Amino acid sequence: MTRRPAVSTDTMTQTTTQDILQHTEAGVCTLTFNRVGKKNSITTAMYAALADALQAAAQDDGVRAVVLQGDVTVFSAGNDISDFLQQPAATQDSPVYRFLHAIARFPKPLIAAVCGPAVGIGTTMLLHCDLVYAGDNAAFALPFVNLGLCPEAASSLLVPQMFGYHRAAEALLLGEPFMAEAALEVGLVNRVVPPTEANAIAQAQARKLAAKPISSLIETKRLMKKGQAALVAQQMTEEGAVFGRMLGEPAAREAFTAFMEKRKPDFSQS
Ligand code: COA
Repeated sequence: MTRRPAVSTDTMTQTTTQDILQHTEAGVCTLTFNRVGKKNSITTAMYAALADALQAAAQDDGVRAVVLQGDVTVFSAGNDISDFLQQPAATQDSPVYRFLHAIARFPKPLIAAVCGPAVGIGTTMLLHCDLVYAGDNAAFALPFVNLGLCPEAASSLLVPQMFGYHRAAEALLLGEPFMAEAALEVGLVNRVVPPTEANAIAQAQARKLAAKPISSLIETKRLMKKGQAALVAQQMTEEGAVFGRMLGEPAAREAFTAFMEKRKPDFSQS
């Protein structure tokens, strides 16, 4: 059994070498968000580590399935907001987009275990997973509008398809959190379980998949997804351009500053 950090660089947002853990056993590569003190918010270095790990897992014959998991109290609070404030808008070859394209194109089974908050990209990455198991404490949120931003990860395409338009509008325009049972109802998760069981169930399902013929898994996933792979890539690119522009606009700057200052944002000037 190996348990090693997948991140090797420190950033100004104090990403440590342990923020993404990687562990491969019995054909299953498990990637664990391990920045619980910052609610597993994701820094640039963490996106780079995730993208590298997914690319390596796609090519490694010893890996037949990947599990993404967080802590029993929190999956991920989304993009690190101080990174949003400090770094210029991301380009398509930056770590966040490398991660999004890697997860959207990942050819082998991808399973997520989600407990506690899953905010922003913490929820949108699940749209690209094949199986999702949620603890009954999972709280999903797509608060892009509340941050002066727009959806990413092709969520403006995939959420309406999955939830139905009106429920998608509720999730994406109001940006209010929705709990595990609501996520089950709209098809975002496969099963709701006690939080302490979510990681184990994801692992057990991944091991079942890892015992199946890999070429059948890869072809079946490719055939299920091929109808809209190009659309997903196109939507991500368009969202990325708008998101990048909005990151520098007054509403987003106010939202990020308010979060860091632990106050409510004032959008009266934006
Ligand atoms: N980026 C950077 N830091 C974050 C963060 C984020 N996305 N989310 C949480 N943190 C940090 C907080 O600043 C705080 O740091 P501190 O202890 O140094 O003050 C720490 O994590 C704990 O967060 P806190 O808000 O006190 O925890 P909570 O349990 O009350 O709430 C959340 C948890 C996830 C609901 C809340 O942190 C949150 O809404 N985070 C922002 C989510 C978001 O808007 N993400 C961007 C999506 S595009």
